[in-house]
Amino acid sequence: MAVYALWNNKGGVGKSYLTFQIASQYALTHPQERVLVVDLCPQANSSSMILGGIEAGEAAIEQLSGMTPPRTIAGYINDRIVSPYVDTHSGANYLTQARTLNPTVPANLYLICGDEELEMQAARIQLACTAGPANAWQIVHTWIRNLIDDVRNSWDQQDITVFIDCNPSFTVYTELAISASDRLIVPFSADGSSKRAVRSVLNLVYGIVRRPGQVQSQYYRNVQQFRMALPQIYSYVGNRLTQMNNSSASAFRNVVLEIFTEVYRVYQANPGLFAIHPGGSPAPINRTTFRMMFEEQINDANTASVVSGALGIPICNLTSGTKRFAGRSAHVNQSQLDKQQPNIRDFVAGIE
Ligand SMILES: Nc1ncnc2c1ncn2[C@@H]1O[C@H](COP(=O)(O)OP(=O)(O)OP(=O)(O)O)[C@@H](O)[C@H]1O
Ligand SMILES: [Mg+2]
Repeated sequence: MAVYALWNNKGGVGKSYLTFQIASQYALTHPQERVLVVDLCPQANSSSMILGGIEAGEAAIEQLSGMTPPRTIAGYINDRIVSPYVDTHSGANYLTQARTLNPTVPANLYLICGDEELEMQAARIQLACTAGPANAWQIVHTWIRNLIDDVRNSWDQQDITVFIDCNPSFTVYTELAISASDRLIVPFSADGSSKRAVRSVLNLVYGIVRRPGQVQSQYYRNVQQFRMALPQIYSYVGNRLTQMNNSSASAFRNVVLEIFTEVYRVYQANPGLFAIHPGGSPAPINRTTFRMMFEEQINDANTASVVSGALGIPICNLTSGTKRFAGRSAHVNQSQLDKQQPNIRDFVAGIE
């Protein structure tokens, strides 16, 4: 049971979609636990899906963000902007049990809803990092950790599983998300810029530079200065894999291979940066065992994915047939569900 951040420096790779699917499936398969999603992206895409999709979910976000104070991440961040260096212990006030707004998600799934206001708050978060005591940066970078502790305490449960959906840019609230997490899941897609994006993750979070003279990220240097913990890499996830035997499928295989090569090099030099998965497997000793542990692939489920997100129905609960949303209808084929449901189930089964 740990805090997972889903992050890649690149947009549109499936961070929010996978947060929704993985958290829902984890909650479904662990009914005795409570599962928390913290949406640290101002676009609030994972919140929208968790709260019921493009109609009900969007309306729910409006409702939560319109409350006084907003029952969203922005409500909590406001508390901390007012009291940056003294913990407000107010995180649990901003929780929403997703099931109260979306009947299709498990009852043990909870959300700190995303809020576009976060973008406006970024400048003030940044200011709080530089004003105040000598370790202001460190204190501000524990705000989300504090928030998770508040939720843990309010539930009187030490062991909870948390998924944090991040914004692609490495802005200050993304830094807070990374600083709050124990494990990092890095989704990527099959295009040419994915390798560059994964390299950015490795530099921005872990200070891994590729050329002599290349500067390490300020984030990494601050983490070192304040001796803070970094998340361990849990997996890199090739998302929207197309299975057809055509050029796009082989292009995808090449991208996956390139990213594997990149990440494996880091593992060989710094195995401590990686989270050895539970379940009794020993630390990987070669390329094959490394890939088995750290590489995941999620197929593209086409219309089924669109419908899952639009209706806020987790893909593993979605059935085939004609579905209606936003005044139109779409047909979900069983074959689309069969492509992705096993991937999500397998991935989640490996999460402790
Ligand atoms: N495995 C998949 N199969 C089909 N569609 C997918 C899959 N994963 C993601 N998508 C779709 O791809 C689009 C981008 O996904 P998503 O919004 O999750 O990316 P993101 O990384 O969170 O983007 P951003 O950087 O803007 O936050 C969405 O429309 C989503 O529904
Ligand atoms: Mg997103």
